Amino acid sequence: MSTGSDHEAASPTGARPVARPTVVLGVTGGIAAYKACELLRRLTESGHDVTVVPTESALQFVGAPTWAALSGKPVATDVWTDVHEVPHVRLGQSADLVVVAPATADTLARAAHGLADDLLTNTLLTARCPVVLAPAMHTEMWEHPATQANVATLRERGVLVIEPAEGRLTGKDTGKGRLPEPGEIFELCTHVLARAAAGGATRDLAGRSVVVSAGGTREYLDPVRFLGNRSSGLQGFALARAAAARGAEVTLVAANSTLPDPAGVKVVRVETIAELREVVVPAAASADAVVMAAAPADFRPASYSEAKMKKAADGSAPAIELVQNPDVLHELSTSRGRADTVVVGFAAETGDATGTVLELGRAKLARKGCDLLVVNDVSGGAVFGSPENEAVILGADGTATEVPRGSKAALAHAIWDQVARRLQD
Ligand code: CTP
Repeated sequence: MSTGSDHEAASPTGARPVARPTVVLGVTGGIAAYKACELLRRLTESGHDVTVVPTESALQFVGAPTWAALSGKPVATDVWTDVHEVPHVRLGQSADLVVVAPATADTLARAAHGLADDLLTNTLLTARCPVVLAPAMHTEMWEHPATQANVATLRERGVLVIEPAEGRLTGKDTGKGRLPEPGEIFELCTHVLARAAAGGATRDLAGRSVVVSAGGTREYLDPVRFLGNRSSGLQGFALARAAAARGAEVTLVAANSTLPDPAGVKVVRVETIAELREVVVPAAASADAVVMAAAPADFRPASYSEAKMKKAADGSAPAIELVQNPDVLHELSTSRGRADTVVVGFAAETGDATGTVLELGRAKLARKGCDLLVVNDVSGGAVFGSPENEAVILGADGTATEVPRGSKAALAHAIWDQVARRLQD
């Protein structure tokens, strides 16, 4: 095992990188098998030691030479190759992560029932590490009660079965059942690996439903002009990814973000604060936790012009009257659908004559009525669009948790740690 930096895998949670984590990539017989080539590339290029275990039917879609060339290792589907190395137990026992992408309905069924008729199912039975299954199939197969029962069984046993994405399927049909983008499955895997390496619980949000808002709203003046803000959505997307990696059912309400849908996350794209509120408020009513990482505009134009506003002939500029927007976080905190929902807000502060960043944060926590407030010092605008962040997480119970500068993923996990603690209480 090498410990050289070129052999260390990137750690999204900010934890010490793991020296060359060992990953088994299972590939099963669905058309999305070709997307697993990209996942394999991402894993190997970021320093993971990957063994690909395809099923016989996966090889109908992508041949063994492709897997062998991309992983730099021999590829077998059965337990009779290199028997002296006892591969049917060795692979599972020595893995830091097993990820199966795509996982067909048949594979889910075989895994749920503990069958062991090929190398992949043997590996799933012997793995003691986190196991991630990324199903991909037609909507009818995914929704079939047999498949749903198998998914429920696997989840109960501690497997992270991620929800398929919605969109175009193999034929002309569209619906739920697409394999999430390989880059996003990769991100989820690195979260799981880093959490496990740091000794953190990998599925402590399993069975929980959470809502996260992200990005900045746009308040339109006319069909082409709007008032907006600098929020990139990076922190909210990191929160959604981190929660999905910890087993939560996640709804991400994304305002004007161009970031791709995180794997296993239900993404609702919105533009204005009115649209954001319309989705967040009902979704939060039954959720275990809601995190308002979005930057909704505080004001919107008092009127909207259906036609594009034209310049005046006399050169005068129009006056824009603004009205205040509803405060969604305050509404979520004060009229909760469930008394035990953990409500989390963000506060981007610069400090002013009335108080320091933290003093203003404490006052905002009380004013908003939420359970946790993540306070960012945004003096100089350093946080917008940056992959890094630092914050203090203030609790309504008087706690203050400092999160040092690190990745937005690391801050996301620190926030979920606080939420998970409150959900257990
Ligand atoms: N927020 C909200 N609805 C709004 C404005 C903000 O839900 N109309 C939420 C944000 O998502 C964030 C928190 O409130 O979680 C704090 O946002 P911030 O803009 O710092 O608070 P404001 O209430 O606008 O306070 P300030 O007067 O300091 O701008």
